[in-house]
Amino acid sequence: MSYKTIYLKPGGGYDNVVIGSSEAAAPEAGEITVRLRASSLNYHDFAVVSGMWGPSVQRIPMADGAGEVVAVGEGVTEFAVGDQVVSTFFPDWLDGEPQQEGFGTVPGDGVDGYAREAVTARATSFTRAPQGWSHAEAATLTTAGLTAWRALMTDDSLKPGDSVLIQGTGGVSIFALQFAKMAGATVIATSSRDEKLERLKAMGADHLINYRSTPNWGEKVRELTNDRGVDHVIEVGGPATLEQSMIAARIGGHISVIGILTGVAGELGIVTALTRQLRLQGVLVGNRTQQQEMIRAIDANGMRPVIDSHFPLDEIVEAFRYQESNRHFGKICLDI
Ligand SMILES: NC(=O)c1ccc[n+]([C@@H]2O[C@H](COP(=O)([O-])OP(=O)(O)OC[C@H]3O[C@@H](n4cnc5c(N)ncnc54)[C@H](OP(=O)(O)O)[C@@H]3O)[C@@H](O)[C@H]2O)c1
Repeated sequence: MSYKTIYLKPGGGYDNVVIGSSEAAAPEAGEITVRLRASSLNYHDFAVVSGMWGPSVQRIPMADGAGEVVAVGEGVTEFAVGDQVVSTFFPDWLDGEPQQEGFGTVPGDGVDGYAREAVTARATSFTRAPQGWSHAEAATLTTAGLTAWRALMTDDSLKPGDSVLIQGTGGVSIFALQFAKMAGATVIATSSRDEKLERLKAMGADHLINYRSTPNWGEKVRELTNDRGVDHVIEVGGPATLEQSMIAARIGGHISVIGILTGVAGELGIVTALTRQLRLQGVLVGNRTQQQEMIRAIDANGMRPVIDSHFPLDEIVEAFRYQESNRHFGKICLDI
């Protein structure tokens, strides 16, 4: 049977996105076939599809995929037909310390991803989805959800009473807000837009800063924390925000170096990192075990992700154009 599939021609770019078809082979030993029903957009997928980090060969884009198991191969005991599953960012990184640099094994970048109606893959390329979540909701977890979870819960063990700074209202930051509140932390949230700050407040953010009208927001964070600084920073801005993040962090504080929204290089004064003995930790999503731990916590807490909008698979380019506009609050999903 043939399934609708989005292809990105070598080099990427919106003009190089084409709709075609692909087959999903019968699963061999250790494999499952999944009828994919949703994906979600991340900045990394945007970089690939827009051509910023376009692929050198034709590629099926999108790292996030969720759907229903429709066939299982010999020896697969973890899943049965009918199970709802969500893909993992690193199909080969099941547990333990990271082993690989970069995106060579990541679906939608180094290998084919999930902008298609069906896939046959190793069973370990997926985990169970949270109970009662839609496929679109589950698809938000692979990249954005797990990055926020790993940053707060694995790289640093967030405790009740800790303070967390989040930047902007993209997918990673909103998940970080939700996980931080789930753990009983205080959250300081920034955004470029006051109406988005109001929405963050409604979700439980304790303190709000407009980073456009308060460009030295690091000092504002210190003021809000009685000059102590925050325990954790979810640093998604990159070169233009890292210095303020270092000002905002407490002595010995943890900065998860996650994003490149303001570019990939810049001048950085590192003295604050030394004098404050900060812990800067580079993050590249997380492993399968961490995804399972995150989903267990979600099941126990009844959390739901924030979905801004849905686009049909065919309108993947329109979805990325909308993401580029930065009008979204939370996740943009593709319905497959
Ligand atoms: N390392 C990893 O494992 C990993 C994983 C996932 C994502 N990332 C990276 O993390 C970043 C965010 O990803 P995402 O998927 O959450 O993106 P996204 O959903 O596209 O986030 C966009 C939002 O970021 C905010 N933003 C933009 N410029 C900002 C700035 N200068 N300061 C503070 N906030 C700013 C804006 O919020 P407002 O409109 O509210 O201002 C914007 O709406 C990207 O660079 C992405 O590549 C890294």
